[in-house]
Amino acid sequence: MKKNDIQKLLLWYEQNKRDLPWRHTKDAYKIWISETMLQQTRVDTVLPYYERFLKRLPTLKDLATVSEEELLKLWEGLGYYSRARNLQKAAKILWAQKLDFLPPDKNLLEKLPGIGPYTVGAILSIAYDIEEPAIDGNVLRVLSRVYEESEDILSLKVRKKYAEILRPLMKDVSPNFFTQSFIELGALVCTKVPVCQKCPLNTCCQAYKHQTMLCYPKKKVKKEKPIFFKTVFLFRYCDTFMIHKRLENGLLANLYEFPNVDASFTLEEVCHYLHQKKIFYKDVSFLGEVSHVFSHQKWFLHVYEVVLEKPILHELFVTREEILKVYSIPTVFQKVWKLHKENQELESS
Ligand code: ADE
Repeated sequence: MKKNDIQKLLLWYEQNKRDLPWRHTKDAYKIWISETMLQQTRVDTVLPYYERFLKRLPTLKDLATVSEEELLKLWEGLGYYSRARNLQKAAKILWAQKLDFLPPDKNLLEKLPGIGPYTVGAILSIAYDIEEPAIDGNVLRVLSRVYEESEDILSLKVRKKYAEILRPLMKDVSPNFFTQSFIELGALVCTKVPVCQKCPLNTCCQAYKHQTMLCYPKKKVKKEKPIFFKTVFLFRYCDTFMIHKRLENGLLANLYEFPNVDASFTLEEVCHYLHQKKIFYKDVSFLGEVSHVFSHQKWFLHVYEVVLEKPILHELFVTREEILKVYSIPTVFQKVWKLHKENQELESS
């Protein structure tokens, strides 16, 4: 890749870029939020979250001081909740140093929780026009084809090599447009099945030259995700439902869930379990099955509604409205809630 290729890429970007809200700002705080949301999440999914988040938390101080409950509710459904917690941890660290913005300081930024080399590069290049490369999955896909990269693109060694290749190419151009043009090319043209006729880099791309595009990027074979079987209980008492706060560590930490056990119960086993636990119920019914894939595991759930005679002591029973508006319930349990709603609609039709 030469300067001339970068010129072609920048021209292509100018003519083809999507109109995205974080492209209308130079506020490093807003760019940080967008880049964090965009990690592992598609642009279409992020858009409404980004707008709502910044409406409620327009400044770094707002993020540093919001309650964790409210923060997680704003993040509900985006997944990878540690991203939200790290955003707040980082905001608190900066706010404690009387900083109400993200400074253009690589050393400081890279020490903050949740901010890795990609995010540092994105903040510095996009918000501050500093020549610091930002290499995410999109960019690696492009580079792995341009250079027919034979090594695992997720290795640190490969990332470092490409950072050194990109750095000098950022000179004399806008680092902001440089970063965003590579991201955009990876998102729109150099996709899983690339559209090479439309690519501004097809004249310097080794994979295009040898028609080996589909062989790149090379990745290690992924391990199979383990499957966990669970039974979920929708304990209902007078139109309130029992929810439960998960532990502060591990998967879905501190979020709310419907009570569940680690086994796939039949109706008979559910009755036996409730009897054993001395939970007195009027009715119990099987609502169906739900499955959900996390980054490192899959869940397979049997869902039962249990209509109680009285609430279970010391447990939290909440209304439909509160489930919707107050408590942060991760997607897997939102699917359970949706199943319950569908069953009710069937009953009443
Ligand atoms: N993915 C990661 N960063 C992005 C950006 N700034 N615009 C569009 N998609 C992205």
